[in-house]
Amino acid sequence: MTERSVPRTIAILDQRPVGLALPQSVFQPNAQVKPTGLLVDARGRPLRDLRISVTDRCNFRCSYCMPKETFGKDYPYLPHTSLLTFEEITRLAQQFVRHGVQKIRLTGGEPLLRKNIEVLVAQLAALRTPDAKPLDLTLTTNGALLARKAPALKSAGLQRVTVSLDGLDDAVFRRMNDVDFPVADVLAGLHAARAAGLGPIKVNMVVKRGINDHEILPMARYFKGSGMVLRFIEYMDVGATNGWRMDEVLPSREVVQLIHSQLPLVPLDPAVPGETAERWGYAGSNGQYDPAAGEIGVISSVTQAFCGDCNRARLSTEGQLYLCLFASQGYDLKALLRSSASEADLSAALAHLWSARSDRYSELRGTLAPDQNASAQRRVEMSYIGG
Ligand code: GTP
Ligand code: 5AD
Ligand code: SF4
Ligand code: SF4
Repeated sequence: MTERSVPRTIAILDQRPVGLALPQSVFQPNAQVKPTGLLVDARGRPLRDLRISVTDRCNFRCSYCMPKETFGKDYPYLPHTSLLTFEEITRLAQQFVRHGVQKIRLTGGEPLLRKNIEVLVAQLAALRTPDAKPLDLTLTTNGALLARKAPALKSAGLQRVTVSLDGLDDAVFRRMNDVDFPVADVLAGLHAARAAGLGPIKVNMVVKRGINDHEILPMARYFKGSGMVLRFIEYMDVGATNGWRMDEVLPSREVVQLIHSQLPLVPLDPAVPGETAERWGYAGSNGQYDPAAGEIGVISSVTQAFCGDCNRARLSTEGQLYLCLFASQGYDLKALLRSSASEADLSAALAHLWSARSDRYSELRGTLAPDQNASAQRRVEMSYIGG
């Protein structure tokens, strides 16, 4: 598979990379592979987690994700005809599930901006793994529309939600979302999600040193004992527009130390293999983990890469398959869907692409020479493939 070079002018006008056409061999009848649910990539990593972006739009402008300077009112968002339909998404998802996917996360942009999203939720909720189990079906949202949508999402079959929240102080939160959105509305969304039974709820806080790190302790205190799991995420160099600098990353180690100094923590074992977050539990007065007080998580993609067991595939809003969050190109599954491809063709394409996968960007980040990092200019935006 050769790299496709994207002319500079395109990168300036439109930050989205152009998907690679699928390799020819995918279309050959003898390339068809019967799904076993045991597919592994070139590094022996199974395919377990599929993240589906359902829109490239968002009503927030977090500076680490969709900075206003780039995502202004003239930004060329995808036209509706470019988006995968719900039927196309479900058709693909079914093949992913046959190859071993057990968890599906809907993302964006902001997934609740996609019209009738609960219809897609209902279609995906009907899928079953090869051993007849329902999927772990979840959604990442900024929470702005959650208070309104939580009951419909729950009745459509969504199991849980993850809500992004970068601070509790209203002024800090408004600065982080950069559209002056009040924190009270997101908190109302969180409580509506809990009331609707969309749990266990996770809350994601991206930490930028000197910008919102003073909110770490208030957030920890607020969510301790709430039944919601707060996770602190290291600010990542994802995409090509956020002007990332290492000195704005607060290493998770420091987050844990800070919280531990006020609210003692004990390490917890991973809940499932391939998890992004390292878990820490609040200690009770006996020094042991107190389940009633709950846990936090730290996601350390910058200081402690977790590519070794990365089992995540990402499907962009327009049907490009990305094998890594830091990839600069995807594979055009929409073209395949809109050709006369059979289910066996789709299955063969997925098997072919996943078995050749060797991505491990976060592990290599520190070792890449500046010219190798030139591909960063073309790296895909998180708002396009989802977190
Ligand atoms: P659950 O624990 O099942 O809810 O999912 P998760 O831990 O994968 O959480 P989530 O999807 O909320 O991801 C949390 C954050 O971790 C994302 O917003 C990203 O910032 C980061 N992240 C998730 N997946 C990856 C990945 O594959 N690579 C890297 N580098 N970062 C990731
Ligand atoms: N660094 C870390 N996490 C990010 N997200 C988006 N951009 C970044 C970044 N640069 C994640 C946040 C947010 C989710 C939608 O995407 O976790 O909650
Ligand atoms: Fe929108 Fe989430 Fe990106 Fe913020 S991080 S701009 S809420 S997609
Ligand atoms: Fe997976 Fe790529 Fe993230 Fe590593 S950097 S954990 S390979 S998505």
